[in-house]
Amino acid sequence: MKSTELLQSAQALLEIQPNPTSVLANASAFLMESLEKLNWVGFYLFDGKKLNVGPFQGKVACSTIMIGKGVCGEAALKQKTLVVDDVLSYQNHIACDSNSRSEVVVPIFIKGRLFGVLDVDSPIFKRFDSDTVAFLEEFVKLLVKTIDI
Ligand code: SME
Repeated sequence: MKSTELLQSAQALLEIQPNPTSVLANASAFLMESLEKLNWVGFYLFDGKKLNVGPFQGKVACSTIMIGKGVCGEAALKQKTLVVDDVLSYQNHIACDSNSRSEVVVPIFIKGRLFGVLDVDSPIFKRFDSDTVAFLEEFVKLLVKTIDI
């Protein structure tokens, strides 16, 4: 499916979720189902101090990540999307699933505050091209509109 069609399906799906946990749970399932060659998709949520693992699809992951640590913590600190083409040669990477080879993390802000990050991992080096990254950023924009906190 093309990005525009996927975003339409995502919008329809996300709008009918009753609460933030449901939104995030189905969002992670939707991305895992819709994008090829992924091994982990999910959310780390900010509690005011650190990131805690939220709804995800994939293998058991680390529970907490400090701000600035790992790709997730770094994206939260820098407040920007980070794309890592080769996690094995990226020093600030936390290896949760040893199958991961590339990763993209999109920070999520709601009402100007850090809410968490979307973390997407692939077993393929350089899996995330600019179209996929743009799609994930649009997806997060949709998500933010649906989460009412
Ligand atoms: N690789 C991430 C940690 C989370 S797991 O991949 C699910 C990081 O470096 O922040």
